Amino acid sequence: MTSARASFPSTFVWGAATAAYQVEGAATEDGRGESIWDRFSATAGNVWNGDTGAVACDTYHRYTEDIRLMRGLGIGAFRLSVAWPRILPEGRGRVNQAGLDYYDRLIDELLANGVDPYVTLYHWDLPQVLEDNGGWPARATVDAFIEYTEVVAARLGDRVRHWITQNEPWVVSWLGYGLGVHAPGRESDRDALAAGHHVLLAHGRAAEILRRESPAAEVGISIDLVPTYPFSDAEADVAAARQSDGFRNRWFLDPVLGHGYPEDMLERYAEILPPILDRDLETIAAPLDFLGINYYTRNVVRAGVGEVATEGAEHTDMGWEVYPDGLRELLARLHAEYELPDLYITENGAAFPDARRNGRVPDPQRISYLEGHLAALASAIADGVPVRGYFLWSLLDNFEWAFGYSRRFGIVYVDFDTLERVPKDSFAWYRDFIGAQRSG
Ligand code: FCB
Repeated sequence: MTSARASFPSTFVWGAATAAYQVEGAATEDGRGESIWDRFSATAGNVWNGDTGAVACDTYHRYTEDIRLMRGLGIGAFRLSVAWPRILPEGRGRVNQAGLDYYDRLIDELLANGVDPYVTLYHWDLPQVLEDNGGWPARATVDAFIEYTEVVAARLGDRVRHWITQNEPWVVSWLGYGLGVHAPGRESDRDALAAGHHVLLAHGRAAEILRRESPAAEVGISIDLVPTYPFSDAEADVAAARQSDGFRNRWFLDPVLGHGYPEDMLERYAEILPPILDRDLETIAAPLDFLGINYYTRNVVRAGVGEVATEGAEHTDMGWEVYPDGLRELLARLHAEYELPDLYITENGAAFPDARRNGRVPDPQRISYLEGHLAALASAIADGVPVRGYFLWSLLDNFEWAFGYSRRFGIVYVDFDTLERVPKDSFAWYRDFIGAQRSG
């Protein structure tokens, strides 16, 4: 499969993605409140090298420069997230107009440059005060999220045409509350399950609000899906892979697409589930205009062992296997098993240890990663899977959560001492790829 053969519909949306805490910086400016990532990253031992998002890429001050880059790249869409603590620094109640003003300017600048904003409401930066009141495991956090959604939609809903309510509910709940490797760093399966349920409820209720406040817009959610393969054909490996698929994928996908929580997993979690009220599943299954899929890698699962590395395969700097065909197989499976709305790939990309050489940043591995994944995507579309757009993660090297600045996902290199931006070779490659699709 080569990129030359990958061909996409003329209406296909080409984009790039970032998230507020990973790029904005300006963590204490213009009335922004504290988020769980400020607290978590400032606590020793949580993030590589003690890195924090206090400055990050300083996009808060440099967004016009970044939008110039987008223009040069030729993307028609940009995925960003709104930082909740900029809008409601105390989590609820008082609205900070200066925070809204920032997104107002950002969105106007994007639109003036022909770039359509895809706005995520929650990409992990919960106001710390809400965590102090129980965080996502507390059902009241859903009400707080609805208050926030109303405020943001009322201000930006006249110009935003695509809303993403939540980003990666598995990561929010399991990495944040179950395994403790993300903010707020709790380690309780019970909390993880409660958090997950409330994140999904927040999604469903926000979808209703967005339809009212931003009637011309499309509404979706981004779910991280990791196709899961058994290590061998042995029955035990097949069963282990199925369970892992329930944990990672079906638990979130099924209720959002109207199938309810999967029975096998309900049984497994029976002792530690949060209260699931009568109408909850109906709310979670709110009609979707699109489903966002974040795809990076696959998992291979062995009974009694868990996830195992595939020998001989290429891995990224995250240790994730490069497996482009997983994207095609995942999309084929979704197409076969669910009734799907439009799909967008809302994240896909790779970290490699890039460095500057004579003013350039050669990143052939990233180019080959992108070629492979776009070819897989083109073949899924040719098979009839309704994918409407692709967002490369990420426009910029940025704060990669618990890995701090040690993992570079950008197609633009960021020098974190000077904040200088240097487009990598993959930037030119993506620009030319998009250009060829447009003229082709
Ligand atoms: C996803 C996150 C995104 C980024 C990529 C590498 O899980 O949504 O913020 O960190 O992984």
